[in-house]
Parts: sequence; C-alpha cells; structure tokens
Amino acid sequence: MIPYGHQSIDESDIEAVIDVLRSDWLTTGPKVKQFEDSLCEYVGCDYATVVNSGTSALDIAVASLNLPNGSEVITTPFTFVATNNSLIYNNLRPVFADIKKDTRNIDPDDIRSKITSNTKAISYVDYAGQPCEIEEIKEIAEEFDLYLIEDASHALGASYHGKKIGNFADLTVFSFHPVKPITTGEGGAVVTNNAEIAERVRLLHNHGIDKSATDRYGPDAGWAYDMKVLGRNYRMTDIQAALGISQLNKLDDFIERRNEIASLYNEFLDGCEFVETPITKKNVVHGWHIYTVLLDGSINRNEFFKYMRKNEVGVNVHYIPSYHFSYYRNNFNFNERDYPETEDVFNRIVTLPIHPEMKREDVEYVVNTLKEWQ
Ligand SMILES: Cc1ncc(COP(=O)(O)O)c(C=O)c1O
Repeated sequence: MIPYGHQSIDESDIEAVIDVLRSDWLTTGPKVKQFEDSLCEYVGCDYATVVNSGTSALDIAVASLNLPNGSEVITTPFTFVATNNSLIYNNLRPVFADIKKDTRNIDPDDIRSKITSNTKAISYVDYAGQPCEIEEIKEIAEEFDLYLIEDASHALGASYHGKKIGNFADLTVFSFHPVKPITTGEGGAVVTNNAEIAERVRLLHNHGIDKSATDRYGPDAGWAYDMKVLGRNYRMTDIQAALGISQLNKLDDFIERRNEIASLYNEFLDGCEFVETPITKKNVVHGWHIYTVLLDGSINRNEFFKYMRKNEVGVNVHYIPSYHFSYYRNNFNFNERDYPETEDVFNRIVTLPIHPEMKREDVEYVVNTLKEWQ
C-alpha cells in the first residue's frame, strides 16, 4: 500500500534520539530548549513552547486567552476535530463558518456573517498546508477586536506573502504527528510574538508552575516554586525534541519534495474528466501536507475508495465535518444545510498519497490506477 502520508526518518534522526537516551536528561533538559530556539529561528517568531501533541498545543493556546465561559469562537468544520474540541475543553462555543471549495479553507465572508456581540476569537486552519486568506481574516479580527488562533498543524514551513506561517495570528499551533511536515512521534508547539501570551502558555504546559525542573537544578538553585494557574502536564520529552531538531533541519527539503509531487499530480491529472485538482493561491508557499481531489458528482465515492484501496493506493477522506459526529449532534444544534460548500466538498473529496519519500513511479502508479477506474 502507498500510504496517504508517511514520516521520513534517516540515520541522523536515529542517532539524535540515541544520544539523548545515553544522556542524563530524558525530559525537561537541554534538547527541549534547543528545539524551541530552533523553531523560533526557523519560523522567525519570538516565542515557542513545545508540547506532547498538537491537540495539547491547541488546548493551551485557547486556554491562554482567558476568554469568558460561553464565548463564541468562529472556526471551520472542515478540519480534524481537535481544532474544534479545543474550544469545548475551555468552555467556549464553536460557531462554524463555511469553507471555500477551491482551497477548503474557511471563507472570510462567512466568518463576517457569523459574528455576534459574544464572538471573541477566530480559530482557522491552513487546510492541507495552504495558508488561509489571512489578510482578510486579520482585517475582520481588527474590526471586531477578536483574537486569532491559527491551527497550522498542516503548515509548518508554509508561507504567506513571503513570511513563514507562525507570524500572523496571536497564537499559532503546529503538530508533529508522523504524517505532518516534521515529526517527533507525537508532539506539537505553540508559537507567538506576544510576550504575555507566551508566558501564560509556558505556565499552562507545566502545571501552572512558575519554575521548570531546570530552574530548580544545580548548586545555586532553591526548592521553592509557585503554582499560579491551573495548568496541565503537556511537556515534550528530550527524546522527542532531539528528533524534532534533526527533522527541522530537513524541513525545507521535505516541503520542496512535497511541492514537486503535487506538481506531478497536477500535470498527470490535467484533462482527467472526473477529478478536479486542488488550486494553489498566489503569494503562498504551500506545505502540501495532503493532496486532495474532488470527484465528479456522478462517481460513487465509496466504490472508488474501495477500488483504490484494493489496488494498494492508501486513499483517505479529510475530513468528516465536525458537526456530523455524534458528540456534536448530541450537544449542539448545527444544521448541515448551513454549510453547503463543506457538504459538497465532503461528499466528493478524496486524499491521494503524498509524502517526501514517494517516487515519480509511485505518483504515476496512483494516477494510472485512478484513471483506470470503471
Ligand atoms: C488540523 C489539525 N489540527 C489538530 C490536529 C491534532 O494534532 P495531534 O495529532 O498532534 O494532536 C491535527 C492532527 O491530525 C490536525 O490535522
């Protein structure tokens, strides 16, 4: 099977992890700090806190804003459900805006139409690694005095108008799950250019305690510390951080290869009558975390999916809109008719494999298999 996504691990990654296993610090050690510094340098931002998953990163990013219970946050339903769940963890109310068909990203006009006096933030996702219409979203945020949370789980290494993702929203979240742009096994990060927010995120990821284990280590260190807010233990280990540092060194090569594969798909699928290929907006570097196509409405997606899987192509569906899930149906009153674009995309979308180690022959195999359908 050619999987839809896969990590790229080489000997240097393995060595980096082994070195940590031989060291004194498996967690709260120097590699975590080094990974945070490397992320800041790569993204060009001021503060980074690395954590144990993208979901944890979202949770404390939202928590750090201290929004009143019941506040509304406008978000996309066309995402991995963790984006929306992070609002519910923090007693906030997700309000869905529809997406745009061509990019599957949140529609700024629909964000505008969902604003009420109770709206406090917008949480948007750079779907597939393609930056949203950030300029338009920022204008809305400034006009209505809203916070911005960018779920860039797909978009580490992508850029918008020449600047790396991680510099636009009040808080930006990355995920380091194996299929993501880089991996630490499980892992995530929150980055920001706001010192106060950064301080709250740092407290929240370590029980709300104001001194790290490193601060309390060594001949001159004391034992005392304070717990200032109700935090969690979302710390990343040094084992993971070492892998992250090693992976980050290769990120630009990964992104370049993902872009080459996406271009091959676009070229080979050009003229294929029953699929619409994805578009890339001007002025962005696309991260190509996933490559998705829309099937013609006459095609039975389930039959197509089974056929591709039987032929060892690891197709997938990203995503089931969050309001379809039982939890959301049982606890909220969303109506799928309010999201016509999301529904249409959901009914026709298929993810084709893309990851840096795919060869040209793999892409040819996927496209030839697809074209031989029926
Ligand atoms: C858009 C989006 N947000 C959040 C997450 C959660 O990240 P993690 O799996 O690292 O918790 C994912 C993971 O698939 C994702 O795709």
